[in-house]
Amino acid sequence: MEKKGFSSRLGFVLAAAGSAVGLGNIWRFPYLAAEHGGGMFLLVYLILAVTFGFTLMITEVALGRKTGKSAIGAYKFLSKKCSFIGYLEALVPMIIFPYYCVIGGWVVKFLGVYITDQGSAATSENYFGDFIGGVSEPLFCLGIFLVLTSVVVLLGVEKGIERVSKIMMPILIVISIGLSVYCVTLDGAMEGLIYYLRPDFEHFGIKTVVAAMGQLFYSMSLAMGIMVTYGSYMGKKDDLEKSVRHIELFDTGIAFIAGLMIIPAVFAFSGGKDLQQGPTLMFVTLPKVFNSFPGGNVVGFVFFVLVLFAALTSAISLMETIVSVFCEIFKAKRTVVCIVVMIVAFLLGVPSSLGFGVLSGVTIMGKSILDFFDYISNNIMMPIVALLLSIFIGWIVKPRVVVEEVESSGTFRFRKMYGILIKYIVPVCMIVILISSIIGYV
Ligand code: PFF
Repeated sequence: MEKKGFSSRLGFVLAAAGSAVGLGNIWRFPYLAAEHGGGMFLLVYLILAVTFGFTLMITEVALGRKTGKSAIGAYKFLSKKCSFIGYLEALVPMIIFPYYCVIGGWVVKFLGVYITDQGSAATSENYFGDFIGGVSEPLFCLGIFLVLTSVVVLLGVEKGIERVSKIMMPILIVISIGLSVYCVTLDGAMEGLIYYLRPDFEHFGIKTVVAAMGQLFYSMSLAMGIMVTYGSYMGKKDDLEKSVRHIELFDTGIAFIAGLMIIPAVFAFSGGKDLQQGPTLMFVTLPKVFNSFPGGNVVGFVFFVLVLFAALTSAISLMETIVSVFCEIFKAKRTVVCIVVMIVAFLLGVPSSLGFGVLSGVTIMGKSILDFFDYISNNIMMPIVALLLSIFIGWIVKPRVVVEEVESSGTFRFRKMYGILIKYIVPVCMIVILISSIIGYV
């Protein structure tokens, strides 16, 4: 990536939001909320977002801006001994990227469904299952998504994509709000709305917290070096705390709306029996919504175009990180690295894709292959990185480094809490989460 810097605070906020807002918000958040008790999950997520999410994001952005480097360089700059944290951070996108493209491929498929006017066929009981259970079609769609992402990264036209997505994103929000209003008014949807909004303490447990924490990392692109890189592009005078708040608000707002669109619809169309669908939830539920009103096919088409853009901007940020790390390590040419990353990502994406079909008999820790990669990255790797990061900042270089950086461009209102969180609360909670994840409790 070129070190050009953003021309304004808004530029930084929008670019970081482009990475943060993606399939995590629209596809992952609703199915996790559905699975983990609706309102309880939402409540836990919101609490974690304003505490942990904020703490980790401001830390990463400040590290990037202070050092002017991406993750690997930033840690090296502050402490040679701790530079391994940067490498560990760089590993996470490598696990996520291949399976992210598998889901991106599913979006491509649905775009095809609405282009060819097959919206009503897509509502049949086994339509989606048959698609992901196949071999050539999902792999072909994975390939298309991967090529689209690679072409952008290869040609270095992210700026163009970001510009387009700046226009697309507000349209996506407006359509999602419209759809959620429609879904909420469907027969039987009220029960879903209550399930989504009312915390039921019966659903509270470590499982919910672990799932919400993993989602937080994923959705906000945390603990993988991305926010460090974006921070390094940020203007020295831009208000850091405010920017981080805005990204968080944006990201959480879109996830919230997506849940509002999907969960009540699950109740309206299947009486709530699909709540445990997992990763396929959005693709099973939304076609039913689009099919239920006149002109739904057109709305379906527009919707999936927009989701594809949101997914692409996130996938680009994932691939960029991977490519720049390899360019740095191997001092290799960008074009070569891009092509190699594309091929390897495809090969690694194959088992995740086939895990819903010919490899469905293969489960790891009781999970499908895609779920397993998702679990390893979000529930194991990211807490490890967050733990190391909090120890590094809280105890080795001291929170002062971050506080001073934030205060160099504005007041740090959350300063006291920040110190306590990064030194004590984040590490302790990460250890608890890791232990629960590792002993297979969740
Ligand atoms: N935050 C993105 C999403 O919610 O879809 C996914 C993502 C992008 C994760 C970039 C990690 C990342 F580095």
